[in-house]
Amino acid sequence: MALRNIRRQGDEILTKRCRPVTDFNDRLHELLDDMAETMLSANGVGLAAPQVGILRRAVVVLETNTPEGEEYVVELINPEIVEASGEQTDPEGCLSLPGEYGMVTRPEHVKVRAQDRNGAWFEREADGLTARAFCHEIDHLDGHMFTELCDHIMTDEELDAYYGQQQEQEEDA
Ligand code: NI
Repeated sequence: MALRNIRRQGDEILTKRCRPVTDFNDRLHELLDDMAETMLSANGVGLAAPQVGILRRAVVVLETNTPEGEEYVVELINPEIVEASGEQTDPEGCLSLPGEYGMVTRPEHVKVRAQDRNGAWFEREADGLTARAFCHEIDHLDGHMFTELCDHIMTDEELDAYYGQQQEQEEDA
């Protein structure tokens, strides 16, 4: 496995629509292994193939709705969202725009249909942060960034105010 270079916003490749994956071969497996390693080493919860310069419909997402220490990587090839419900509005960021966040509304719950690394179709449900990551990564496959869905990049003061409030709520609960 190897770390790959993460493309930054402004790189034209991040605006392109990706082609479906058609060959479920060793080359794809190597790409997926490298993407997982690259995502984890950057402390991300999702990464899409175009972010490492590959215009194919493949993403990795870290499932974090688990007991601590038991997070695991989900691979989605040729994914599509087939059901969405509820709503969540929170700061969202991207490994292609490190350190910048914007308030983005996403579904609270999604169901996605995708292929695994061997080409088998499956359906998978996700909630909360994982649902947000599925939507965010699938948007990358169509050349979209989260910055198209928020008014502005949050200032440090706005982020502090948001996370300060969260903490108070948690302390109250
Ligand atoms: Ni992103």
